[in-house]
Amino acid sequence: MSYETIIAETRGKVGVITLNRPKALNALNAQLMDELNLALDAFESDANIGCILLTGSERAFAAGADIKEMEEKTYPATYLEDFFITGDRIAARRKPMVAAVAGFALGGGCELAMICDIIIAADNAKFGQPEIKLGVIPGIGGTQRLTRAVGKAKAMDLCLTGRMMDAEEAERSGLVARVVPADRLLEEAFRAAETIASFSLPSVMLAKETVNRAFETTLSEGVRFERRVFHALFATADQKEGMSAFVAKRPPNFTNS
Ligand code: HXC
Repeated sequence: MSYETIIAETRGKVGVITLNRPKALNALNAQLMDELNLALDAFESDANIGCILLTGSERAFAAGADIKEMEEKTYPATYLEDFFITGDRIAARRKPMVAAVAGFALGGGCELAMICDIIIAADNAKFGQPEIKLGVIPGIGGTQRLTRAVGKAKAMDLCLTGRMMDAEEAERSGLVARVVPADRLLEEAFRAAETIASFSLPSVMLAKETVNRAFETTLSEGVRFERRVFHALFATADQKEGMSAFVAKRPPNFTNS
């Protein structure tokens, strides 16, 4: 399927989505969010895909929601269409998503990166929630996911002042998993996605679900949930395969079963 605002392609077991509105620094308009969800639908239902890699350009991952599209919106319109519910649809995806972020990841762009499971940043990346400068606040989970990722002090700093955080500060604060030189971003992020996609998909998806559970429940319930999932994985052929391959000192051949 071809899209106008994104490029979606399959590379081995990795589904790669590149945001592609260069003239608007990949600002997230309704068409882009819809196309992104369509591409994710296709990758989620493709049994051969084990991980999704989301990226933008060297200059911008995404500079936020499209301000030109938002400017004239009214309160009833935003409420009736549940403006940016499309973000929740992305967050509900069960396959792992790696964000490769170079340049600006601002507003909705930062929020989109945070919806992904791992953020790998180029050393030129800049993160921020500058909505306050426009008279609004983050609307795709920024106040919540940023606070969970970096704590109240930094989240308040970013959301209230609108300042940007560079890649080094973002890594130090726990927002990004790794920082790599800009010219190696795609290679490094792809390698991470490829590694994830090489494992047994049920265990990968359950690992994602179980880590995310930590944000929704108490420690004792989370640990209990984890143990139940751990037990359940002994019902898979891939558990037998993974462990017997280790014992036999050979690479495993996972079949997602
Ligand atoms: C629409 C945008 C845009 C955006 C940039 N552009 N960001 N268009 N929406 N969010 C457009 C510019 O209008 C310009 O188009 C072109 O991209 C290049 O941008 P410049 O500003 O000329 O580039 P530069 O001087 O390098 O500055 C880069 C920048 C700046 C610092 C990223 O563009 C900027 O501050 N952008 C807005 C960032 C922002 O406020 N994001 C939060 C949006 S609110 P033209 O046609 O003029 O050349 C949000 C809410 C989320 O995300 C929640 C929703 C519910």
